[in-house]
Amino acid sequence: MPDSNCTYKPGPVKCNGFDPRAFRWALIMKLAVEEINNSSMLLPNHTLGYKIFDSCAYPLTGQRAALAVMNGLNEADRPMCSNASPMLAIIGESGSAQSIVVSRILQPFRIPMISYFSSCACLSNRQEFPTFFRVIPSDAYQVKAIAKLLLHFNWTWIGVVRGDHEYGRSALQGLLAELEGTNVCVAYQEMIPLLYDTQRALEIMRVMNGSSARVVVVFSAEGELTPFLRDYMEQNMTAIQWIASEAWVTASVFTGSKFYPYLGGTIGFAIRQGHIPGLRDYLTMVNPQTYPDNPLVHELWGTLYGCSPISFFSTSSHLPMCEGHEVLRNEHSAYMNTSSPRIGYNVYKGVYAIANSLHNLISCQAGHGPFVNSTCAESTKIYPWQLQHYLQEVSFTISGETVNFDSNGETIPSYDLINWQKGTAGNIELVKVGMYDGALEAGSELVISNFGITWAGDKSEVPVSICSVGCTPGFRKAVRQGEPVCCFDCVPCDSGKISNQTDSIDCMDCPEDYWSNDNGTACVPKIVEFLSHDAMGLTLTVISVVGACITLAVFAVFLYYRNTPIVRMNNSELSFLILLSLTLCFLCALIFIGEPTSWSCMLRHTAFSITFSLCISCILGKTLVVLAAFTATQPGNNLMKWLGPTQQRIIIFSCTLVQMIICATWLIASPPFPYRNTQSQRSKVILDCSVGSDLAFWCVLGYIGLLACLCFLLAFLARKLPGNFNEAKYITFSMLIFCAVWLAFVPAYVSSPGKFTTAVEIFAILASSFGLLMCLFAPKCYIILLTPEKNTKQHLMGKATK
Ligand code: TRP
Repeated sequence: MPDSNCTYKPGPVKCNGFDPRAFRWALIMKLAVEEINNSSMLLPNHTLGYKIFDSCAYPLTGQRAALAVMNGLNEADRPMCSNASPMLAIIGESGSAQSIVVSRILQPFRIPMISYFSSCACLSNRQEFPTFFRVIPSDAYQVKAIAKLLLHFNWTWIGVVRGDHEYGRSALQGLLAELEGTNVCVAYQEMIPLLYDTQRALEIMRVMNGSSARVVVVFSAEGELTPFLRDYMEQNMTAIQWIASEAWVTASVFTGSKFYPYLGGTIGFAIRQGHIPGLRDYLTMVNPQTYPDNPLVHELWGTLYGCSPISFFSTSSHLPMCEGHEVLRNEHSAYMNTSSPRIGYNVYKGVYAIANSLHNLISCQAGHGPFVNSTCAESTKIYPWQLQHYLQEVSFTISGETVNFDSNGETIPSYDLINWQKGTAGNIELVKVGMYDGALEAGSELVISNFGITWAGDKSEVPVSICSVGCTPGFRKAVRQGEPVCCFDCVPCDSGKISNQTDSIDCMDCPEDYWSNDNGTACVPKIVEFLSHDAMGLTLTVISVVGACITLAVFAVFLYYRNTPIVRMNNSELSFLILLSLTLCFLCALIFIGEPTSWSCMLRHTAFSITFSLCISCILGKTLVVLAAFTATQPGNNLMKWLGPTQQRIIIFSCTLVQMIICATWLIASPPFPYRNTQSQRSKVILDCSVGSDLAFWCVLGYIGLLACLCFLLAFLARKLPGNFNEAKYITFSMLIFCAVWLAFVPAYVSSPGKFTTAVEIFAILASSFGLLMCLFAPKCYIILLTPEKNTKQHLMGKATK
């Protein structure tokens, strides 16, 4: 690249290397022109002339060439072009970057150009490039095809490498746009610098090696790719599955056998091929013998055989002299690949497009022309814009294919899918394994024969290129922070949510009354939970029945010994009442077990509270009697006469009545009802009784508590009274237990989940009942049954000891 500081006149352009492929295209152009000039059908009596310029695939050189041809400078002044009419059209450029520059220069002069290789989608803009035509499909179609290919083989994690030119830039942009919204992500985008730099290339290879993306799409041409792939092979990297763009997928420079281990299996879309009659003979005719003065032919020989045909050139290029009988063979595929010209065929079509338009222009009939006032172009003074008009309209058939241009100057998009397979000689053979026809409707454009594709590393199974392995049902994708969406972790669905497909992005909530199964793959109806006759329910049932039986047994014992002093002295009527109400207390625990219904719910708390207040009020009565009996011993203060059996009954009845009223109000105002609790435990439906009114519930409990406290207080006062068998201290003790149980109940009740709430309540009922039973009756039973000698009035009054 010349520097641009404008302090000296730039020397002539020097190109690096010789590209036999491009030389072949130039020869094809020459062939086409000669064919047309020999034809009596096309442009009779006219001769096409041409000049060929080399841009060395650099925009800057292309620009120089374009300016040179327009200025008619002596840079390319060759005698064979004397007497020619002004230039009407250009075939070229090859690369898009050059085409853009050249097209911009030609634009003011309205000189049309037809490119055979510039595929950049950016050239489709008719406003910007009004005189640009092309016989190669736009990359807009190629990137679509590549995106389809990636999706077809499930390659969701890919790398992109591109050259530093418009073609690479716009193709990458197009591919990214095409991949947006699909599940394919680009792991990295790397650029091979315009001026090749091994250091940079090694960096790119490090990135390629470090990434798990095995598939790499390359938008680049032979020029920058040749040194890059040379370095790639030196690094001994092989695991990459290349996807070649149309610019290099059919480049035969890479088809030598040494490339196979590294590039075998490459796949990509190539321009459709065509047939050029007599091409092979035409190309073999080109040799230093027929063209002794043509430096390009000498360069071709230098590249193909590594020798210089003439001693003069040999000295300048340091190549040995040729032997003189070198023959062009098929191995020289870079030059001799004539079986299926693709880009070469585009050149051929381009020349014919111009010839046909020119023919149409010349055969215009006066008065029926396309220009102002139906005039024709003057055949001796043709303007380029007139030719442009005819080019836009042209339509002709060549080797069975119709060529024409749409309003943007483009042709029908169709590609062959090419796979690089191992040939018989170990070299690389380009095998067609599918096609892409952009003119077909969506879904059917891409046809791939899935068999017979060789993949990178000589493998027959499709390579895998993904960032993260998919998530199974029951899991969802969780994108990693700062990484593309294709890289994710699989996290299990939260409970209550499911995913029933692989690769789910999100877990779905289960409908109400449903919950996720253990795997998180399906919603199953929630477990309905209530305290039933399972292990816990049965134990509690047994305990309460046993409790009731013991109480009845005590009742029986008391009944049997009703005439002994211990029963008689301690107010037998109240004792029986207590025992009965205690039996009821034990039994009312049973109502709490089983599926709650509206009846059992209403019954539960009312039955429990009424039996308990009955029980406690009896005990309260008893305590009062004990207190009163003590006062009776003090003269003049006989309370006992106020506390006869009737009064006792009234006290007990009225205490219970208060509770009954509370309960009745509760039942009328807002009775307890069964309800499905889905909130407290989300995975279960808890069948429960709602208390209806919390106030009522706590009132009921509070009332029992109040009675119990009162009882405790009175008994506490009476506990020191004389007598060997002083009931008061037992009552104190029982009330202490009772209160302790119910105080412990409150926090346990509030905090226990599900059916345990009910269990806690039952437990409290049973525990407090047992407490009462044990404290009040166990000592008496002991005396009655085991030490009957103490069951005397004297002993009980404490006189025996005295
Ligand atoms: N299709 C490519 C383009 O439009 C082909 C090409 C030809 C190319 N010559 C090139 C690409 C040189 C990069 C460099 O540009």
